[in-house]
Amino acid sequence: MKELKVTPIKNGSVIDHITPGMALKVLHVLKIPRSTTSVVSVVMNVKSKHGPKDIVKVENRELDASEVNKIALIAPKATINIIRDYEVIAKHQVEIPDEIIGIVKCSNPTCVSNSKEPVKSHFIVTSKDPPVIKCYYCEREPDDISDIII
Ligand code: CTP
Repeated sequence: MKELKVTPIKNGSVIDHITPGMALKVLHVLKIPRSTTSVVSVVMNVKSKHGPKDIVKVENRELDASEVNKIALIAPKATINIIRDYEVIAKHQVEIPDEIIGIVKCSNPTCVSNSKEPVKSHFIVTSKDPPVIKCYYCEREPDDISDIII
């Protein structure tokens, strides 16, 4: 029997195939306000064909490019499904860009990107799965990218 863990949504976004344990980081990226009246569902460690995964469903919400890039860094195998009237009308595999500008803060406090200069953070992606990034300015490689997402 097919087990139903979370009900389908009518309109909104389903972020599926999230690396197990990373759903809470995805919620953080989405900055859902306490005042939200939308239905938000989170399931962690559900079984799938390819092993355990997390899923986040947010009603009445579509994601912008910056949010999708942040999710890619947290969960490189995630898919973003757009739901309209209960149907999946679009499905995108997230993709980590070759360079990350402005969405991750360098963990080196003396990096020029953390100075008062108007310099946006800039990272070069050296590996995509698992994601490894290196600061363009100071070459620091952060250990945990999910902790320094702006
Ligand atoms: N979904 C939902 N509400 C809907 C339709 C779909 O919450 N009205 C969810 C499904 O539960 C699933 C995701 O959106 O987690 C993608 O749906 P679908 O493409 O139908 O599932 P699969 O074919 O299993 O997706 P994939 O091949 O990407 O694993």
